[in-house]
Amino acid sequence: MEISGTVLFIDDEKHVLNSLDGLFSGTDLKILKAADPREAIELFGKEEIAVIVSDNHMPGIKGIDLLQKVRDVSPDTLRILMTAYADLVTAVDAINKGDLFRFIVKPWEDEALIQTVHDAVRHYHLVRSLKTGDEATLLGIAQTIELKDPHTRGHCENVAAYAMLIADALNLSGELKKQMLYGSWLHDCGKINIPDNILDKKSPLIREEYEIIKNHPRWGADLALQAGMPEYVVNIILYHHERYDGSGYPAGIRGTDIPLEARIVTVADVYDALTSERAYRKKYSVKKAVDIMMLMRGNIFDAEVFDLFLEVCGKKLLPGLSRK
Ligand SMILES: [Fe+2]
Ligand SMILES: [Fe+2]
Repeated sequence: MEISGTVLFIDDEKHVLNSLDGLFSGTDLKILKAADPREAIELFGKEEIAVIVSDNHMPGIKGIDLLQKVRDVSPDTLRILMTAYADLVTAVDAINKGDLFRFIVKPWEDEALIQTVHDAVRHYHLVRSLKTGDEATLLGIAQTIELKDPHTRGHCENVAAYAMLIADALNLSGELKKQMLYGSWLHDCGKINIPDNILDKKSPLIREEYEIIKNHPRWGADLALQAGMPEYVVNIILYHHERYDGSGYPAGIRGTDIPLEARIVTVADVYDALTSERAYRKKYSVKKAVDIMMLMRGNIFDAEVFDLFLEVCGKKLLPGLSRK
């Protein structure tokens, strides 16, 4: 999927800027270059800039301080720092404080630079769209992410449908239900950052690949937070892989420490995953899926939520299902 957007590079050394020529020529990105930080700030008044990549060592101002200024004039712009190896502590610190999207160590590897810039542009568009908050856009985003993995087509809508039935049974208010709907649609939106070759993989994942996949709740929650999405939406995205016994990820929290809205979506998510075909296995029958989920009752799932799921979804969506 080719993406467009404007990317601004700043470096006081002209030969560094020149070496960028050609690097992005085959893409839809518009590349701006500036050697002078003041000139760079002025560009923000004239252009919509998705991503800024700044050198750290420049006369008069450090890149990290320049990026702080950019944050004030253009908060949605993703900030990437080019840094010498010696500055890594500063860079990691800035990432942890939310001041930076990523950093790139100089001298960079072309592949890595192109990939990082594309990730940032994609992230920029996603946050902008999430901010609009209208339903068609949010569902569109969820569906676009599903396209990355053809086996998950329809997943977010199915998960939302099951979660809504549970929410109805719990008599949740209209506003909370709306947040649960959006959270269910977007629960896997952090997958946008997972490389296609991992999502498409036909054979079982190796440990390192699984570790990358495990980042998707955090990545997704970061996107939702940046877009100012409400609490339930963020909670569902962040905690949908937590387990009731504390063995889940990313936080490893347990029991009712896991927000109810996330415990609900976990059940819906697993049910839909089991009853859909995956790259590495056929889909299970409703009966087989429920049998498998029975073994997860009380350890992976909140038993009460799971029983409620069987009660409401069993009646409406799973005809012929007899429980207990
Ligand atoms: Fe997920
Ligand atoms: Fe999912």
